[in-house]
Amino acid sequence: MRRIEHGPEPGPDSMRVVQAPVPEPGDGEILIEVHFAGVNGPDIAQRQGRYPPPPGASPVLGLEVAGRVARTGGGVTQWREGDLVAALAPGGGYAEYCVVPQGHALPVPSGLSLAQAAGLPETWFTVWANLVDRAGLKSGERLLVHGGSSGIGLAAIALAKLRGASVFVTVGSADKARFCVEFGADAAIDYKQEDFVERIRQITHKEGVDVVLDMVGGTYLQKNVSALRRDGRLVMIAFQQGSKVEFDFLPVMIKRLSVTGSTMRPRSVAEKTAIRDALLREVWPALGRGEIRSHLFATYPLEQASEAHRVMESSRHIGKLVLQVR
Ligand SMILES: NC(=O)c1ccc[n+]([C@@H]2O[C@H](COP(=O)([O-])OP(=O)(O)OC[C@H]3O[C@@H](n4cnc5c(N)ncnc54)[C@H](OP(=O)(O)O)[C@@H]3O)[C@@H](O)[C@H]2O)c1
Repeated sequence: MRRIEHGPEPGPDSMRVVQAPVPEPGDGEILIEVHFAGVNGPDIAQRQGRYPPPPGASPVLGLEVAGRVARTGGGVTQWREGDLVAALAPGGGYAEYCVVPQGHALPVPSGLSLAQAAGLPETWFTVWANLVDRAGLKSGERLLVHGGSSGIGLAAIALAKLRGASVFVTVGSADKARFCVEFGADAAIDYKQEDFVERIRQITHKEGVDVVLDMVGGTYLQKNVSALRRDGRLVMIAFQQGSKVEFDFLPVMIKRLSVTGSTMRPRSVAEKTAIRDALLREVWPALGRGEIRSHLFATYPLEQASEAHRVMESSRHIGKLVLQVR
């Protein structure tokens, strides 16, 4: 099969297509004939050497795929050969075949293409685990999402709407702000033009938000705490501006805040399967009915994975980028 290899240089041009053996599905696993593979922020970090794969995971890039079940391993009960699925992969998605545990796959939501479906798992598993499981976002609450136009950001907007929460986002341009509001955000703040803490104070009549989903870190950490109201929750999923800061914890005590975060990739098969089950129950039907949407920005042939990474790093995109594998 063809797959992408990267390194030893950290840049996008170090990615190239190579020939490799087709992986074997083990017990409880399925082999997927990959049609499309999603591109995610963590792929960039892994390529740059900042996010090594956890022990036992494929070192090949790619955390989500969509395609056809080509073969099932021993004890697989949930899928049959020929089923069309979208799946969270432990790695190895940038390839013609990819092995995943059966409990990490979902059906392609009705009305969505395989290309669209390939862009769902990584962002939806992540936003569900962080906004629902960790932050306990409830109906009627207010959410602030940084990076609102990212793959993660758009899924967070959709999840907030699904749960009956208000959602505000920060973005780096007026075009992204317009897109996010059209997509369902209640307000979008261009962080290059205005201070998000001040805008959140205005929008919420000085009350603040209940939950912040942060992928920026650095100077945002203290500001996030300022934007939160009493009993608020700060959830961190990335530190694009760094994870080390001088930080005043006093507001955490005064406002009874909770500070948390998580990563998806190192979780156990059972933990990811539990998230899959929740998505299947709570989110997939709404995607199938068109009540919530995803947004595919562009599709690149597997051979142009470097270009897809360059676009993602430039932040020109809105929503998801996917690779067409066959
Ligand atoms: N913890 C986990 O389990 C997990 C799982 C998946 C992804 N992630 C992380 O989540 C982030 C998003 O992933 P993705 O795949 O959706 O990538 P992406 O589409 O490339 O998103 C990155 C976003 O960061 C925004 N950004 C950068 N600096 C910012 C700032 N100062 N203020 C506000 N926004 C800023 C960019 O928007 P602008 O152009 O508007 O600045 C861009 O939309 C990545 O950092 C990724 O590593 C974490």
